Formats: sequence, structure tokens, C-alpha cells
Amino acid sequence: MEDQGGFNWQDPRIANLFATAAQTPFYKLWGDTITEISLHLAKMAEAKTLIEIGAGRGNLTRDMLIKMSSKNISVPLFASDANEAVLNNVAKLRDEFSNQQLQTHLWDVNNAPDDDLKKQIKEPVVLYERASITYATYGCLENIGQVADMIVLGDYFNCTGELFADDTMFDKIGVKPLFYKDVEPLILKHFPNQYLFDREVHDRTGIPNISLVIAWK
Ligand SMILES: C[S@@+](CC[C@H](N)C(=O)[O-])C[C@H]1O[C@@H](n2cnc3c(N)ncnc32)[C@H](O)[C@@H]1O
Repeated sequence: MEDQGGFNWQDPRIANLFATAAQTPFYKLWGDTITEISLHLAKMAEAKTLIEIGAGRGNLTRDMLIKMSSKNISVPLFASDANEAVLNNVAKLRDEFSNQQLQTHLWDVNNAPDDDLKKQIKEPVVLYERASITYATYGCLENIGQVADMIVLGDYFNCTGELFADDTMFDKIGVKPLFYKDVEPLILKHFPNQYLFDREVHDRTGIPNISLVIAWK
């Protein structure tokens, strides 16, 4: 892709690659963990709104809708993405889950959330995502902080400051390494409490990345 001018989401090879990767056991477990934790937090905090950013193919959206339906919960869910075509696809989930309150919303998290979204959401808000802010810039945390009370971020945050194999590999699919030392102060500015889900693994094995961050106001 580098030879052809750079990373391109519209390339069918990329679409196929992500579709296949999304069905692997690890990716499913990771998504299951993110949605389970987010819904659990939503219940504990009596959240009035769930926001998902970078919904993509709707893997997490579907997972969340399945979980809410099976637990007999219905919290309004705003699935957002920077790409309109992606959202048209996610909106189809409304037919499948007519018992749920799913809305789609165009939001490039590099920009502040628009008034339309702010007007529609009710606090407390739980916001979750996976592998989407790695395509945005650090500044997006400032924008996320404007609407969310609790966040669950599923990204590979580099904790050592040194590039590792994952970082080099992800770079090939358009992901820039997110150094936790740079991300942490931005998270803590809006969400002073944080829990690094796989910190123990990180500490014990020296694995250089953290894959799940939970933070709240
Ligand atoms: C790798 S996909 C992740 C999809 C989904 N979160 C999942 O885990 O299956 C990344 C998604 O992030 C979206 N994205 C990229 N940059 C974004 C931005 N600045 N704001 C919001 N979404 C963005 C892309 O359009 C794409 O749908």
C-alpha cells in the first residue's frame, strides 16, 4: 500500500482483512470484554446514554445490542464514526434489534462533538471504542471528555516509549503508535480515575502494550 500511495480504507483488500480479523478468537474476546465492561459500568452508574466511537463494521455495536437484549436492558446507544458509509451499514442493526434504542451519528472525534449530539444525550454517559482513536489524534481525548463520564478504550497503548513489533506492524495499516505517557495526561485531565485492565500482565511479563483502559470522572 505504501508503494501505491499510502493506506486506504476503501481498498477491498483492507475490507477483507478486517472482516477476517474480526472473526478471530482473540478479537472476539477483546470485543466481548470491552462491551461487557462498558455495560456493567453503565448499570453501576445508571448511565442514561452509551456512545460508541469508530463503529466500523458494527462488531462492537452488535455485541452491545445482543448483551442489552439478553439482559433486558435498553440504554440509548449512539454509534458514531467519521465515515458516513460505515454508519449506513451500522444503522441496519436497528431492524434486527427493534427492541433497542440505536441511533447513528456522524462524528469525527478529531473535532468537538456537535450540538445535535450534545442535545440528544443524557448524563451519565459511558463511551467505549476499539481500534478507532488510534486512527485519530491525541487531541480527540479533549473532545471525548466533553460528552463522556466514563470511558472504555480498547487500543494498543505503548507503555515503554520504544517501538515494538506491534507498533511497527500496525503502522502498516494506518495506525500510529499511541504512547501512553502522552495519552495519560490527556485522559487524566477529564477522567482523573483510571484502571489499566491488563496492568498486571504488563508488569509481570513485561509486555510493552496495554490493550484496555477504563477511566471515569
Ligand atoms: C479498525 S476500525 C474499528 C471498528 C470497530 N471499532 C471494531 O472494533 O470492530 C476503525 C474505525 O475508526 C473509524 N475512524 C477513523 N478515524 C476516525 C475519527 N477521527 N473519528 C471517528 N472514527 C474514526 C474508521 O472509519 C473505522 O470505522
